[in-house]
Amino acid sequence: MPPSRAALLSLLTLVLLAGQASADWRICDEGIFRVTGGEAEPAVAHAGQDIAFRVHGVLDRNVTAGMLEVWVSYLGFNVYSKSGDLCEAVPCPLAQGELTLEFKQSLPRTAPPGPYMGCFQATAASGERLFCVDLNFRIALREAADTVADATADAIDAAAQHAVQ
Ligand SMILES: *[C@@H]1O[C@H](CO)[C@@H](O)[C@H](O)[C@H]1NC(C)=O
Repeated sequence: MPPSRAALLSLLTLVLLAGQASADWRICDEGIFRVTGGEAEPAVAHAGQDIAFRVHGVLDRNVTAGMLEVWVSYLGFNVYSKSGDLCEAVPCPLAQGELTLEFKQSLPRTAPPGPYMGCFQATAASGERLFCVDLNFRIALREAADTVADATADAIDAAAQHAVQ
């Protein structure tokens, strides 16, 4: 029996939702810095490495000072938060127009692998919201764990070949 139209539609919906959930960035609040994109570089990082978070957008007017708040969550749990001077994170003043803001962060060596979300929220000294954006990134399995996994796969292959002979 061919799949029903309803089944195909719900499958399509699932695919679209999955695509949305894995988007790199999401606006969490509108501000005078209109966000047009964002990403983590590398998107899949290693624990202990540096990661750069970039937010692209258009700034409505010059900003000379502000605050930056950052939250990082892992599997829905808040694992890190920090707030401070925006101008310690990026060079100020921020000039009106198209801009890319880059925030560098070093990842703890002990960070477990998996999906993470960084929420970056900035406010101008005037009190106006600059932007709020969520950026997704992943921490890769540790190199050592990868090596063990490879060795295990090799051993299973060898055992399988032995069994076939
Ligand atoms: C914004 O900053 C730029 C560069 O610093 C300056 O040339 C411009 O006059 C400023 N605009 C306003 C409205 O202050």
